[in-house]
Amino acid sequence: MVTSGLFDRLDVSPFRLAIHLAMAFVILALSLWVALGAFAWPKQSSKLGLPRWAPFVLMALVFVQIMFGALLAGSDGGPAYADWPKIGGEWIPSTAFGLEPLWHNFTEDHATQHLLHRSMGYLVAMVALLIALVGLIRGQGAARWAVLAVGVVAMGQVALGIHTVLLVSPFWPSLLHQLGAAILWMAALVCARVAWR
Ligand code: HEM
Repeated sequence: MVTSGLFDRLDVSPFRLAIHLAMAFVILALSLWVALGAFAWPKQSSKLGLPRWAPFVLMALVFVQIMFGALLAGSDGGPAYADWPKIGGEWIPSTAFGLEPLWHNFTEDHATQHLLHRSMGYLVAMVALLIALVGLIRGQGAARWAVLAVGVVAMGQVALGIHTVLLVSPFWPSLLHQLGAAILWMAALVCARVAWR
């Protein structure tokens, strides 16, 4: 008979959960990349109006942000700090990065996890907005819809993240927040596909 092995410990390691989520996002990206190629999208007339590397930088930032989110959610750290914009009443929690060795802070310390995930979220949103702005001004054709989606979804994702914090991480907002991450990831990939040609 097959058994799960989860007798004494019902929680899965946040690190393993993060790797699992990372694989899912890599598969999603590869599938979408191949699908866009198969449908010969985008057409030649479509231009991003940005350096080739710009959407790849955004994708890298979103990927790291998704990993930070997975470590936060995977260690049940969401409800640990339910205030915003501060974290436990402080802009930079005094307990952040307090564990030894250093890497334990990423998987176990909720103050560090909130600090990293929230700060990275703001950075992702700013880069996404910049790409959207420049792409809308200098881009052409369908690529302009892709950069618009990047900007709008990034802002929605930050708003959803803040809501999740303030509502103390209930199921549905957390799930929607995860879905938002997947949509943002796909929108950034579509921009990268346009820039790649
Ligand atoms: C803009 C880019 C962002 C992306 C791509 C992103 C992505 C993610 C992902 C993938 C998760 C893990 C979800 C899960 O596995 O259940 C997560 C969790 C979380 N995020 Fe974000 N996030 C972003 C911004 C933010 C911001 C700005 C905040 C708050 C100010 C925030 C608050 C949270 C919280 C509280 C959780 C834990 C939810 C739970 O306990 O299930 N996120 N995020």
